[in-house]
Amino acid sequence: MRRNAVNVIAPKPATPLATALRRNIVRHTDKVFDWDAFPSNRGYPDLARAQMRYVGAGGSPKVGEAGTLAPEHFTVSLIHKPVGNYAACHAHEIEESFLVIEGVLTVGWEQEGEVVEVRLGPKDMILNARDIGHGFRNDGVVPVLMSISVDVGKPLPPRYLYHPKTGTDPALARAFGAAPGKTLPLDPEGTHPLQQIMAQKVIRHTEATPIREEAGFTRRVYVGPGGVASETCRKEMWEVPAGAGVQPFARDVEDAFMVLEGSLTVGWEEDGQQVQAVLGPRDLLLTPAGRRHWFRNDGAGPCTVWAVIGDSGAETVRYARA
Ligand SMILES: [Fe+2]
Repeated sequence: MRRNAVNVIAPKPATPLATALRRNIVRHTDKVFDWDAFPSNRGYPDLARAQMRYVGAGGSPKVGEAGTLAPEHFTVSLIHKPVGNYAACHAHEIEESFLVIEGVLTVGWEQEGEVVEVRLGPKDMILNARDIGHGFRNDGVVPVLMSISVDVGKPLPPRYLYHPKTGTDPALARAFGAAPGKTLPLDPEGTHPLQQIMAQKVIRHTEATPIREEAGFTRRVYVGPGGVASETCRKEMWEVPAGAGVQPFARDVEDAFMVLEGSLTVGWEEDGQQVQAVLGPRDLLLTPAGRRHWFRNDGAGPCTVWAVIGDSGAETVRYARA
């Protein structure tokens, strides 16, 4: 009996565009959390936290590592904060957003020994203002997972204001510098200056107005016109229903999509050629300025996306339904 010849089909070499797209995707499962990202926390178990760097180093001195994308206007990282731990009160000359993904995060801002605290749940965000002392703490029963973005304009190291390594009493450091009775809750009607500033810098998902795009998805502006004012970057949360998608568009700056829930098919286009990939939860695509890109939800459920755009102006893209 004559045996059929076996046809071996050689895999097609990836095109340069496909390779470039793959290189700008960071997969959550390819990364490991770094428990030694912040040298000033060494030796203080109550301060321990783990960082996963997607774009830039985000306040860690570990810049330029393999597997992390180079930043232009912003960084993106995840932070895991164990139950009971805190981050010592510090200040810096850059804006820094905390977007809670899981758990409940307590954030405190300090001024002359008085502290205003706010508790943030999943999909809530605070933009820490420049030069205001801030810290955070996990008073909850599950670890906090959050996404932190800073602008890279002035990457100066933080100035610690109440850190146990400088002799601050641990109980005072845990309260961000507030002695007993010196902590106030966030209250937009409150008279403390920090209450009024912080009220302008917190976005709660349930209170953010959705913008319904004719292209079939919803945007909530967290940072930028309509959200918290900023001079650096725009940050939005998108809800993309199953089946929705947009035609290719390009920007003058880079943008990053991090999937929070569901999955998102993303693609790049050049000279009529299209390449695509599917992002799952906590995967990220960074698209450089000028690159035509698009997205579509091929899943059965909705997809939630955290989008960071490299300038703070109003949206210039007119999304067209795919
Ligand atoms: Fe900070």
